[in-house]
Amino acid sequence: MSNTNEMPYEEGLDHSLSLMREGYMYIKNRRSSFASDIFETRLLGQKTICMGGKEATKIFYDNEKFKRNGAAPKRVVETLFGEKGVQTLDGQAHKHRKEMFMSLMSPEQIKRLNDILKKQWEIAINEWKQMDKIVLYEEAKQILCITACQWAGVPLKEDELKQKTKELSAMFEAPAAIGPEHWQGRYSQNKVEKWMDTLIDQVRDERVNPTEGTALHTIAWHKDPDGNLLDTSIAAVEVINILRPIVAIAIYINFTALAVHHFPEETEKLSKSDDGKYAEMFVQEVRRFYPFFPFAAAKVKKDFTWNGYIFKKGILTLLDLYGTNHDPEIWNNPDVFQPERFVDWEGSPFDFIPQGGGDYFMDHRCAGEWVTMEVMKVSLDYLMNQIDYEIPNQDLSFSLVNIPSIPKSSVVLKNIEKKS
Ligand code: HEM
Repeated sequence: MSNTNEMPYEEGLDHSLSLMREGYMYIKNRRSSFASDIFETRLLGQKTICMGGKEATKIFYDNEKFKRNGAAPKRVVETLFGEKGVQTLDGQAHKHRKEMFMSLMSPEQIKRLNDILKKQWEIAINEWKQMDKIVLYEEAKQILCITACQWAGVPLKEDELKQKTKELSAMFEAPAAIGPEHWQGRYSQNKVEKWMDTLIDQVRDERVNPTEGTALHTIAWHKDPDGNLLDTSIAAVEVINILRPIVAIAIYINFTALAVHHFPEETEKLSKSDDGKYAEMFVQEVRRFYPFFPFAAAKVKKDFTWNGYIFKKGILTLLDLYGTNHDPEIWNNPDVFQPERFVDWEGSPFDFIPQGGGDYFMDHRCAGEWVTMEVMKVSLDYLMNQIDYEIPNQDLSFSLVNIPSIPKSSVVLKNIEKKS
C-alpha cells in the first residue's frame, strides 16, 4: 500500500490572473474550498505548492527542506529586495549576514530609534497644527524616512526628504504592480541603489563617517565569512533593506489609525494605565488583522515527503502569511478585531506570522519585527494620547486584492491639536 497522498490540485494552465484578482485571499480561498492546508497550482508558468497554517509554517521554516535562492519572482527582486541581499541567501552565508542585521536590533539601538522617532512626531505635529488637514500615510512616510536615515547614519538634507521618501516608497508600493507602477518601482530602486553605492564608497574612503553601531557603519565594514568586505552594490542593497521597510511601517501606522477610528470601544481600554500591555496587544492585533505581506516564497531544497505529500526538489512553494493570521484553526473569530486574544497567545513562532515565522537568526523571519512594533507603539501613543483630531468623511475602505493594501483615502486627519 502506498503511504503517499495526492495533493489537491487546481486544474488549468496557469492561475497567475486569479492570484492578481484575489490578492491576499488567493491561497486562503483555495485552502477553504479544497478543505486542505496544502494544494498545488501553476503560477507564473511554473508548478507551485501553496500552503498555510501552523504545521505548514513549521515545515516551511525547516532549512533542510527549503531554500530561498532563486525563489522570489524576478519582478519582486527588481523592485523590492534588490540583488544578492540577505533574502536570497541560504545556509552559513545567510546565518552570517543575518547575525549582522540582528546586531543592529539591540535594546540600546531600538531605544535610540524610539528617541529619534518621538522627536520627528513632535516636529510634524507642530507643522500639522498650522494646517487644515493632512494625509496621514504621506506624512508618516516622511517622518519614517527622516527617522530611518538618522537611525541608520545616512546623511539626508532637508531638500532631499521628499524625493528620497518617494523613491523608497515606490520600491514597496510597486512589487505586485504591472505597467507604469512597476517601472516606477524599478526606476526608483535604481536611483536609491546609486545613492547608496556612492555612500558606501564614501564611508570606505572615510569621506563620510557614520557613528559606530549604525546600520551604515556596520554594513559598510561588514566582512563576509571569507574576511572580505561586501561588494559595494550588495552593501548598498543591505542598507536599503533597513531604510525601505522602516518607511513601509507607514502602512501599519495607517491601519493603526483606522483601528482606533473603527473600534471606538478600544479607546477606553487603551487609555487605562497598564504599563503599555494593552497597547502592545493592540499593535499585535493590527499586525494580525490587516493585510500587508500576502505570502513568503521558497524552493524545495531536496525531495521529501510530508503528511504523505511528495515535495520535489526545485518546486516553488508559497506560505500563506495573511491566511495563517486569519486561520480559524488558530484564531477564534479570526475576522473580529480583538486585541485581548493575545493574552492567551503562547508566542509560537509558527502561528502569528505577519513578518514571517521561525527564528530571527537561523531563519528568514523579518529582521525588523522589534523595530516595527516599537514604531507602531510610539505612533499609537501619539494618535491616542498626544493629539486630538477629526476624521472627515472619506473612503476608508481597504482592498484585499491590491498588494500592498492601503486605505483608499490614505487616512485624512483634520484640525489637529496637541493635547494639553
Ligand atoms: C513594515 C512592516 C514589515 C513587514 C510587514 C515585514 C515583513 C517581512 C516579511 C514577510 C519578511 C520575509 C519573511 C520570510 O521570507 O520568511 C521580511 C524579511 C525581512 N525584513 Fe521585514 N517587514 C517589515 C518591517 C521591517 C523593518 C522595519 C526592517 C528593518 C529595519 C525589516 C527588515 C527585513 C529584513 C532584513 C528581512 C530579510 C530577513 C532574512 O531574509 O533573513 N523589515 N519582512
